[in-house]
Amino acid sequence: MGAVGILSWLLLLQTVPWAAGARPCSPKYFGRDAMVCVCNATYCDTLDPVVLPAPGTYVKYESSKAGKRLERSQGSFQRTGLCLAGLLLTLNVSALYQHLKGFGGSLSDAAALNILGLSQQAQDNLLHSYFSESGIEYNLIRLPMACSDFSVRPYSYDDVPHDYELTHFRLAEEDVKMKIPLLHRALAMSRRPLSLFASPWTSPGWMKSNGDVRGKGTLKGQAGDKYHKTWANYFIKFLDEYAKHNVTFWAVTVQNEPLAALLTPPQFPTIAFTAAKQRDFVVQDLGPALARSPHRTRIIILDDQRIHLPHWAKVVLGNATAARYVAGMGVHWYLDSIVPARCSLEATHKLFPGHFLLYTEACSGFLTFRFSVSLGCWERGNHYSHSILQVLNHFVAGWTDWNLALDLEGGPNWVKNYVDSPVIVDSSKDIFYKQPMFYHLGHFSKFIPEGSRRVGLHSSCRRLICQLEHVAVLRPDGALVLVVLNRFGWDAPFAIQDPAVGFIETVAPANSIQTYLWRQQ
Ligand SMILES: *[C@@H]1O[C@H](CO)[C@@H](O)[C@H](O)[C@H]1NC(C)=O
Ligand SMILES: *[C@@H]1O[C@H](CO)[C@@H](O)[C@H](O)[C@H]1NC(C)=O
Ligand SMILES: *[C@@H]1O[C@H](CO)[C@@H](O)[C@H](O)[C@H]1NC(C)=O
Ligand SMILES: *[C@@H]1O[C@H](CO)[C@@H](O)[C@H](O)[C@H]1NC(C)=O
Repeated sequence: MGAVGILSWLLLLQTVPWAAGARPCSPKYFGRDAMVCVCNATYCDTLDPVVLPAPGTYVKYESSKAGKRLERSQGSFQRTGLCLAGLLLTLNVSALYQHLKGFGGSLSDAAALNILGLSQQAQDNLLHSYFSESGIEYNLIRLPMACSDFSVRPYSYDDVPHDYELTHFRLAEEDVKMKIPLLHRALAMSRRPLSLFASPWTSPGWMKSNGDVRGKGTLKGQAGDKYHKTWANYFIKFLDEYAKHNVTFWAVTVQNEPLAALLTPPQFPTIAFTAAKQRDFVVQDLGPALARSPHRTRIIILDDQRIHLPHWAKVVLGNATAARYVAGMGVHWYLDSIVPARCSLEATHKLFPGHFLLYTEACSGFLTFRFSVSLGCWERGNHYSHSILQVLNHFVAGWTDWNLALDLEGGPNWVKNYVDSPVIVDSSKDIFYKQPMFYHLGHFSKFIPEGSRRVGLHSSCRRLICQLEHVAVLRPDGALVLVVLNRFGWDAPFAIQDPAVGFIETVAPANSIQTYLWRQQ
């Protein structure tokens, strides 16, 4: 190698941080099998960019309770399948289902505070873990409009009573000093276009029936009146102010958990809407205000538990004017275990196939008195993957986690509604822990870009409960992705058949998740 060759090689090493190869997890155990990967200012596990394998071969990424974290291996398709395995999964790329939007998490005030509580280099490692090619490449970010419960104080952007012109509307320090700078850094390190969506928890207190940002109220008055017009203009002001900082939003949800009153603490900041009130607000106020504005931001309704589907969709989207203003429906996962996907998600998709379904919030450790944070808990990762697989197979377009990062207690949260997160920050040691939930999400987010489509996958399993859960996806670049989850404590041999390529004879180890990736030619 000549001098120029060495120089350009050194330059490559300089400019391409992953050129030295992926860095493995630095493990720490909080009990048997309860493993996290520890990152600090100088070390964090990374991934190589995803490269499509040569035709006739596949790559496999595997994570497991036994300690693998997105470990890459490769293999070749076989011409024939012996099918000794028993279980056969057969692709059918002629059966094309919903388009996928993507995967991501939420930049709450709490997440921003935790991230910024680290040294600059540790912050970079955390942001790269989520957003860059050396990480799991999230493409969705949800952002609360003003405070959520995951803030350190209650506030709105205009706490001056009766300011119907919103002349005192100001973004908060939390936006200007914390969230916007973090968004700029995430945008700069992402190879994929990021789609941002914002959700209000509460309006200013003076617009609410209870007169307070804190607690539960409704918006005063009726759709079309000065309260509702002002509340719609508040959305536009928010988008205007963020646009001044070069941050644009793909969508807004009309209201975080409009029916949250039952499950949340009394001080929880929220305004309640019925489906009919949300429809009227969209038709008379928010829809026209957005249409008149320069923003091409879409409207997402519901943003609450799927137990309200398909009723909520029927009431709102049953109105042709509302249906034109609305792009899709947001769903939270908290009551999923009591509501079958078929009669909520799938029923709604069948009624309104032109409107997407998107999971907009999920987290573990909610409403528990202990174990809000459970470091290294593999089962919480399983729970994430199980949810993602189930909802993707019922016409959902993507999945958004709640707080991107929390502290060891599962906060901060000013109503003490502590929960878990895929990334837990210990700022006193300038470290953060990447939990199993982080890697479970990565098995989807890194490999399934926006614009992918779910395709047919036939399972030969005829039992009531099948050991493996799975989804197959066709990417815009023509590659195929198959994610397979084994939540059971024993290995499951199985085979994959892609009629265009051949067979893979393989095993899903006990308590593991795998992503297979290949191309058809
Ligand atoms: C950061 O983590 C690496 C790998 O675990 C370790 O070798 C190093 O000592 C840590 N640095 C600090 C400052 O703790
Ligand atoms: C594949 O899907 C297409 C479209 O749904 C269907 O017509 C065809 O019968 C399927 N092929 C097999 C082998 O099931
Ligand atoms: C926004 O982008 C424009 C054009 O790229 C640039 O000139 C301006 O400085 C940016 N403003 C902010 C606040 O980042
Ligand atoms: C939609 O709802 C509005 C009330 O917000 C009503 O005035 C209008 O007639 C409805 N349109 C249709 C087509 O049902």
